[in-house]
Order: sequence, then structure tokens, then C-alpha cells
Amino acid sequence: MAVNLRGRSFLKLLDFSPREIRYLLDLSRNFKDLKRAGTPHRYLEGKNIVLLFEKTSTRTRCAFEVAGRDLGLGVTYLDPGSSQMGKKESIPDTARVLGRMYDGIEYRGFSQELVQTLADYAGVPVWNGLTDQFHPTQMLADLLTIEEKLGHLKGVRFTYMGDARNNMGNSLMVACAKMGLHFTACAPKELFPAPELVKTCKAIAAEEGGSVTLTEDVKEGTTGADVIYTDIWVSMGEPDSVWESRIKLLRPYQVNAAAMANAKDTALFMHCLPSFHDTRTTIGAEIAEKFGLPEMEVTDEVFESKQSVVFDEAENRMHTIKAVIYATLA
Ligand code: CP
Ligand code: NVA
Repeated sequence: MAVNLRGRSFLKLLDFSPREIRYLLDLSRNFKDLKRAGTPHRYLEGKNIVLLFEKTSTRTRCAFEVAGRDLGLGVTYLDPGSSQMGKKESIPDTARVLGRMYDGIEYRGFSQELVQTLADYAGVPVWNGLTDQFHPTQMLADLLTIEEKLGHLKGVRFTYMGDARNNMGNSLMVACAKMGLHFTACAPKELFPAPELVKTCKAIAAEEGGSVTLTEDVKEGTTGADVIYTDIWVSMGEPDSVWESRIKLLRPYQVNAAAMANAKDTALFMHCLPSFHDTRTTIGAEIAEKFGLPEMEVTDEVFESKQSVVFDEAENRMHTIKAVIYATLA
């Protein structure tokens, strides 16, 4: 039977089968080809979507806006603090109001429960643009990028270094398990993903021909990797006070030339961005001054190297988000 995602919300990859994820990746490629060829694809003219952001964003917001406009949609952006949501209006009430006006709702914010509640009440598809637990639209961009660069997904040895229990660590473990990659979280024990999610992912990986490994050992975690991925050490919503302890925990897990040298010669460096790879940001400069650390989760050398595909990933956010919007609304 053909895959049909019409009317579905996109809240986390765990809700989607490998076949459905494959369909979204193929659709993304088609949209990328159309965009590159300059072929108009205003397939959803007359529909409207709203983008609700309770945390800041560059890529996710822009990807939804451009993808929406390319598809002919009307797009409303609500920035952190400018709607009634939460303070004066409950989530169920907000969902029911927006669902009466819009054909789809993107939400970026804090808890996964909140985006689930929006989806439960809206009556239209809700797309998770990042919560504390998951970042599913980023996953499609990352999978598409790996497939474009390495030619396949199954069997790819994928290593995530850093805070392995944040939204990115969780989501990448799920994405790799679903698509049959060998996922390794290379992190201090304190930052390993939750045991229950690990158990779920191990079971999925076993069915799909992949695996899930957790290790504190950098040499073991990086040797022979096809992809080394990292994310910032302190995520949005966490207090500034955690920087010191996080730096102490994660310093050995910085992606640097030594880590890349353990990986295959053909290995890719990946990062969802934004990244602290130099001191050209306010926070980067502050951390350099306070802790004497001019580069954090990745060195500038690796970030700027030929192995780095971070801007391909960023571009793919748009093509993959377009696929999600189209598949769920068309
Ligand atoms: N990767 C990502 O989600 O980037 P933004 O925070 O800029 O949306
Ligand atoms: N873990 C990061 C991802 C940003 C795209 C955060 O939540 O801030």
C-alpha cells in the first residue's frame, strides 16, 4: 500500500515507520530537484500555516517560511512572547483557535507533552520544530545529507559526541535505529540517554539491521566512524549556571583533529548548528574569556574542513521540511 501521511502530525520519529521515513526522504529529494531546477511547485496554494516559536531559531523558522512560500502557503510567524499562549490562554484553547484558522501548526518550545497537547486539540497537523526531548525535522535533513554524501544509510557507522541525552542525542539515536545505522553515543555516563529510550532504540535497531552502543571511551567511540556528529554543550532553556560543569564533563568529547583521525578517511563531520567553533559569537567570546576555551564542541579546524557538511545539512532543513508540510497537508 502507498504511504499516506495526510492529516498526520510530525512530533517525533518514533511515531513513523522506516517506510514512512523513506517516503519523506524521497519526497525531499524530489522537492530539492524542483527547487534547483527553478520549477514552481505551489501545490498548496490557498492554505495557511502558523509558526509558533517559544525559543529562538534561524534555520527552522527560515526553512518553514521558505518551504511554505514555495508551496504557495500563507505563513504567519509568532515569536517567543508575542502570542497569548501559556500566559493568558491554555495550550488546548490555543490549539483549538489556531486549528480553526490554519491548515497546519509548527511549534518550537519546551516539553514534548506540550507539542503533543497542541496536536491532540488542534484538529490539523502539528509539526515539532524542536522540544527539549526531540528535534524530528532536523533528523530528516541529517539522514538526507548522509545519504547524499555516502550513498546509503543502512550500515553507516554513526557517532554522536557530546550531550547524548538532549533533543539531538535522543533524536539521532531514534533516527539511526529506524533507518538501520550503527549508532554510538560517545559521552560521559552522566549524559547518556535515558535507559528506557535506549532500550526502545535497541529493539528497533535490531529489527532494522543496525545497533545502539553507549561508550565513555573516545577512542572506542570514534574508531572507524563514517559520521561524527556533535551539538552545543548547553541547550536552549538550560540555565547559564550549567556551563562550568558541562564544560568539565564534555571537554574530552570535543570533535577535533584527533577524533576525526580515528574515524574513516571518508568520514563526515556533522552538526545541527548553531555551533561554538570560534569566538565570533557573544556566548563563544564569553566562554573563551571565562574558561579559556576558544572552541567548544568542535574545533574551528574540523568545522571548516572538507569533511564538514554542516551547511549542506542546513540547506536540507528546507527541502525536508517542505516534504513534511506537503505530505501531511496535500
Ligand atoms: N538546527 C536548528 O534547529 O537551528 P535553529 O535553532 O537555527 O532553528
Ligand atoms: N540542543 C540544541 C539544538 C539546537 C538546534 C538546543 O536545544 O539548543
